[in-house]
Amino acid sequence: MTAVPDIDTTAAVLRSKLADHLARHGWLRSPPWRAAVEAVPRHEFVRRFYRETDAPGLTTWTPVTADLVGVEEWLNLAYTDDTLITQFDGREIDWTQPKTISGAHPTSSSTLPSLVVRMLEDLQVHDDMTVLEVGTGTGYSTALMCHRLGAQRVTSVETDPDVAARARDALDRCGYSPRLIVGDGLAGDPDGSPYDRVIATCGVRNIPHAWVEQTRPGCFILATLRGWMRSLGLVRLTVDHDDQAHGRIIAEEPSFMIARQQDAPQNLGMLPGPDQGSTRATSHGPDLLSLPDSGFLAQLAMPHARFFTMPADDGTPHTYVLDATNDAFAVLTPDGQEWTVRQGGPVALWDELEKSLVLWHAAGSPPPTEFGITITPARQAIWLRSPDGPSWPLENESCGEQ
Ligand SMILES: C[S@@+](CC[C@H](N)C(=O)[O-])C[C@H]1O[C@@H](n2cnc3c(N)ncnc32)[C@H](O)[C@@H]1O
Repeated sequence: MTAVPDIDTTAAVLRSKLADHLARHGWLRSPPWRAAVEAVPRHEFVRRFYRETDAPGLTTWTPVTADLVGVEEWLNLAYTDDTLITQFDGREIDWTQPKTISGAHPTSSSTLPSLVVRMLEDLQVHDDMTVLEVGTGTGYSTALMCHRLGAQRVTSVETDPDVAARARDALDRCGYSPRLIVGDGLAGDPDGSPYDRVIATCGVRNIPHAWVEQTRPGCFILATLRGWMRSLGLVRLTVDHDDQAHGRIIAEEPSFMIARQQDAPQNLGMLPGPDQGSTRATSHGPDLLSLPDSGFLAQLAMPHARFFTMPADDGTPHTYVLDATNDAFAVLTPDGQEWTVRQGGPVALWDELEKSLVLWHAAGSPPPTEFGITITPARQAIWLRSPDGPSWPLENESCGEQ
């Protein structure tokens, strides 16, 4: 009879396979981070989670625990390169009767390891550095940093007390005792500053100035910028001596759940009436908003906007683009091969987008990685190729608060 391998042995084999996978794809590039991936038991941070099912239609998540799917399957899933959801809509999951969930909004997770590891590599830490993490989540990425740097050099902030408590338990079980703070990570951690590195695993609409103030000059901030329509990408900023920071978008694809304090207002407000605004023809349809590069430009040009499509009474699809901070709107409707746009309010949203597209096309339609960012205490801007080139103001810090 063959002996059934125990959880620790099976998990160690799976960790080694995960590390091979991450290295093969170029995410895991250095021996110290490889050692961390091979050592930190991710399954301890995701004892219970939800995973997305592949079924078409409404996004649906199914619960996973060792009891529900069996120890082997639970471990296999814990060591796949997937995001594992641990909370929806800011509420704790009722694990006494776990059910399939759909139409919900994930608010905490263990991020897919390839993204965690790629960010940790991009952080370019040295042995004696201190790190502030914003968004503890399950604590898995915190544990990787503890393994790499020593827990005494790691501080992590989580805004949700229940999530933070679970992360603390998991970190304790694994023998890591970093400094854990429950609070709004947008304020950073003045008591522990200055830090050598700040890393955010929730998306932000702007770089909180507190992070710049709390990072040692010459050191880095790594975060994903995003708006209410989409992500703007992963930025790495170097902090200057004069309370400023500058850097580049180093990858366009990562998208994190937005910092809770910066989430879009739930209420969409009043829809514009059919007689409001002025109408013109446009060759740019709503697809622009969803396509990778033009969607990026749309997010820059309309920083407070959201959009959705719904059919009018006669079935014609209307795409509404609504600014959440004022009454500006653009409504797109198909008109043969072209489109009609009706705009109103203090800003002509579609005009702004088209102006940005002209600048972008004139520059040869470069990808987001050709954009950079400058932060001063007074202003944050994203620019194309050079700080003197075309630029777009980033969402002002105070406007993100509700
Ligand atoms: C994608 S999860 C973090 C993943 C985590 N690093 C891991 O490895 O498990 C994002 C986390 O950011 C937290 N968060 C959102 N806004 C925050 C804020 N303002 N300050 C601190 N944490 C925040 C969320 O509650 C969520 O737990």
